[in-house]
Amino acid sequence: MSLTVEPLHARPRPQEQLDRLFAGGWPEFIFHDQETARHIGRVRALFADLELVLLDGDEPVAAGWAVPLCWNGEVPDLPTGYNDSLARALAAQDAGSTPDTHAVLAAQVHPDRQGGGLAAQLLTALCEDAARRGRGRVICPVRPTHKSRYPLTPIERYQAWTRPDGLPRDPWLRTHVRMGARVLAAAPRSQVISGAVADWESWTGLALPDSGDYVIPDGLSTLRVDRAADTGVYAEPNVWVRHR
Ligand SMILES: CC(C)(COP(=O)(O)OP(=O)(O)OC[C@H]1O[C@@H](n2cnc3c(N)ncnc32)[C@H](O)[C@@H]1OP(=O)(O)O)[C@@H](O)C(=O)NCCC(=O)NCCS
Repeated sequence: MSLTVEPLHARPRPQEQLDRLFAGGWPEFIFHDQETARHIGRVRALFADLELVLLDGDEPVAAGWAVPLCWNGEVPDLPTGYNDSLARALAAQDAGSTPDTHAVLAAQVHPDRQGGGLAAQLLTALCEDAARRGRGRVICPVRPTHKSRYPLTPIERYQAWTRPDGLPRDPWLRTHVRMGARVLAAAPRSQVISGAVADWESWTGLALPDSGDYVIPDGLSTLRVDRAADTGVYAEPNVWVRHR
């Protein structure tokens, strides 16, 4: 199958095509992160050309986007995760610094085309784009797709789980590692999402009558509810990988 790559915003695209590509895959609560909301508008406007799409004919079958930031190549200097990557990209922009690192923050494969290797092709295109722009480093805060099956397991343990062939048990982490990426570190608080209890009830479809910890649908960790303070707080764990 021969696919082409271009910036997603290179031309107008039928909304139905984009709706099909981006249908599903994300829990509702992920769209209610106030820290993300503070930065995302500016980030998406400034770095729109870093969003790439794979096309099969004129049908978008995968898309992913990145931000440029400064990183010294050492684990302690990694952003704390997704939100901090947004902030670091804006900080580099505001300081007039020259970013040396591409942080790939999201990837999506068309629901009908998952499991067919398109994700690796998309990541390859994003890595090639980084190289063309002179950015020698590509990192990703990976959202492991099967972590929601093990919400009680610390991310540090989960990222270390391997199959007998030595590859990660998690399928999405496995795709990265099979391409030659290295697991660098856990990002246990990649996003911290906070909301009123009623909001969490609506985002998760669960009643949350007591204070305490809850396993929530598609949550990679648990939700902590404090009824007296009327808050629920969820920390989204990711795994930092670095591509070659
Ligand atoms: C994460 C995502 C981009 C990966 O794309 P993908 O096309 O599934 O990736 P791959 O083709 O490399 O598949 C990875 C593994 O999962 C398996 N897999 C994925 N989807 C599958 C499906 N629907 N049926 C069977 N196997 C599937 C593949 O066989 C492969 O396993 P293998 O290593 O044993 O071969 C895609 O699942 C997606 O868009 N998810 C929703 C959004 C998301 O979570 N993005 C990631 C966070 S940024």
